[in-house]
Amino acid sequence: MTTEKINIGPEGWDRLFAPSSHIAVITTVDTDGHTNAGSYGTCTRVNHDPVYVSFTCGVGTDTYNNVLATGEYVVNLPSFTEENLATVLLAGTHFDPDVSELEFGGITTVPSTKLRPPRVADFGRHFECEVEWTHQWLNRLMVCGKAVAVSCNPEFVDAAGDLVWEKAKPAHYCGAPYHESFVAAYEVMTLPAYVKPE
Ligand SMILES: Cc1cc2nc3c(=O)[nH]c(=O)nc-3n(C[C@H](O)[C@H](O)[C@H](O)COP(=O)(O)O)c2cc1C
Repeated sequence: MTTEKINIGPEGWDRLFAPSSHIAVITTVDTDGHTNAGSYGTCTRVNHDPVYVSFTCGVGTDTYNNVLATGEYVVNLPSFTEENLATVLLAGTHFDPDVSELEFGGITTVPSTKLRPPRVADFGRHFECEVEWTHQWLNRLMVCGKAVAVSCNPEFVDAAGDLVWEKAKPAHYCGAPYHESFVAAYEVMTLPAYVKPE
């Protein structure tokens, strides 16, 4: 073990906190029913039970407008595959509000089970969320929503309902300083629970 540490200047803080969260393509609809998709490296499950999923989006983006107007969003989690991650980059590209990024790219969607935004068919895990609260600061909107329906590819969970890591292949965004880089890690380590001394 080394106790020696180096101090990092603010320009290095973002890249050191990598990977930050699960990468996600978030689908929303506008009040006319147009579908929108945006990519979010900041997507995190912030409560276990009930499940709440949060992310931050830029003020004035289509996702921002739709989330505030409809209170609904669907979090689609890609796997660490070239096809899925290419869809992430497509959804992260700016298109006009009335253009669906997914339709433009020929990406198949399937309707969600409870909410209006669709699911990205080729992605394996989907969390349909209703907005619980938002908070705007800087040029960002922090969105926190409650999962009201969750679905996945059948092979992504085992008989006990646990994630099959090598099928789901969870993927993370390395962060803006790393541009189009993604990372995944599948090694699972199980440790004995910590028992607090009396
Ligand atoms: C890999 C990746 C991760 C991104 N993560 C975020 C994020 O966490 N927050 C954010 O505001 N924008 C993020 N973006 C940018 C948005 O996806 C982008 O602004 C998009 O055009 C927004 O879509 P919309 O205007 O259709 O809502 C990311 C883009 C990419 C490619």
